[in-house]
Amino acid sequence: MEVVIAQSERLKAQKLAPTKKRQIGLGEPHAILVSGAAGFVGSKLARLFVDRGYPVFGFDDLSRGSRQNLSGLLTHERFIFEKVDLSDAGAVRSRFMDCHSRIPISEVWHMAANSDIAAGIADASVDLRDTFLSTFNVLNAMKEAGVPFLAFASSSAVYGDLGEAPIREDVGPLLPVSNYGAMKLASEALISAAVENWLARALLFRFPNVIGVPATHGVILDFVRKLRITPNKLNVLGSGRQQKAYLHVNDLIDAIVYLRANASERLGYYNIGPGDNGVTVSFIAETTVGAVAPGAGIEYGVEDRGWTGDVPRFSYDIAKISALGWRPQLGSADAVRKAVGEIVRQEGHL
Ligand SMILES: NC(=O)c1ccc[n+]([C@@H]2O[C@H](COP(=O)([O-])OP(=O)(O)OC[C@H]3O[C@@H](n4cnc5c(N)ncnc54)[C@H](O)[C@@H]3O)[C@@H](O)[C@H]2O)c1
Repeated sequence: MEVVIAQSERLKAQKLAPTKKRQIGLGEPHAILVSGAAGFVGSKLARLFVDRGYPVFGFDDLSRGSRQNLSGLLTHERFIFEKVDLSDAGAVRSRFMDCHSRIPISEVWHMAANSDIAAGIADASVDLRDTFLSTFNVLNAMKEAGVPFLAFASSSAVYGDLGEAPIREDVGPLLPVSNYGAMKLASEALISAAVENWLARALLFRFPNVIGVPATHGVILDFVRKLRITPNKLNVLGSGRQQKAYLHVNDLIDAIVYLRANASERLGYYNIGPGDNGVTVSFIAETTVGAVAPGAGIEYGVEDRGWTGDVPRFSYDIAKISALGWRPQLGSADAVRKAVGEIVRQEGHL
């Protein structure tokens, strides 16, 4: 990925005085649009692109993300935040085209989605709206603006429940067991069709469980918050024997930017993970209790999964990304230890 050193004065002026839509010329500053920019992964990604010298448009409706996650960015001269509901086609089109006319957008990193699997089981419209429609509308705006590249945050949930064997990208059939997974898979399908028809290139990143800060959701945050309310006891959903791969967000960001630079397919799809068999929920519970409330009792449920739509055991085969030379810094256990410390600090326990 070519680094653009933005001319700050010129960009400031562009913030204030939108220019007419124009084609991206060689050597011209071009912008990256990050959707879900106020969320966990999106905010880290937006920060990285800004640090690398890109002008960045951050889109988010702040439904699950927050302005707090954008601290330092909101006032940055190369970052422009747009509060927009990506399921609203008209709003997406007008905000997208306006941004594109200020600084031509050359890439979209679509991170916005419903990130709460259980919420999507309770109300299927959540994933339809925030995951599928957001992708549909972003693609339509990209087509109209002629933006050639899309990076998409997909998920292990597209595979469904395939048991314990490490999952390769070419397994099938893909039968998700949650609406979340279903709408991610449907979004992948839309992107595939777009690449066939008009989109120059796309990368589908199948994330595992990603942990770290700024945490907006997830098992560690749940445990830390539960322990704040009842410091002597931690209730765990499910038997605690669920075992999954966890990747630290720093490794995740490293991987997706690495793939942008090193994957060569027009439509690339990659598992991203730590390359181990993961850790159990009981390991995460014990690590969190040890950091927050040593001595607290841990009470497990009886179900083999935490909630309907949960996949209790999965690990990834990461041979495909490994063949390109990418390696994670941390395995699942170290990622959990690091993230527990970070989230405990985020929540003000230390
Ligand atoms: N964190 C993980 O473990 C994990 C695992 C697999 C896939 N993913 C995917 O990675 C992406 C980022 O996840 P995250 O963990 O940062 O979640 P997150 O909830 O922190 O971030 C998602 C962001 O999207 C925004 N958003 C949701 N619906 C929107 C809408 N209709 N319009 C505009 N903004 C909207 C939310 O406000 C939030 O800021 C998501 O697509 C998620 O599905 C995450």
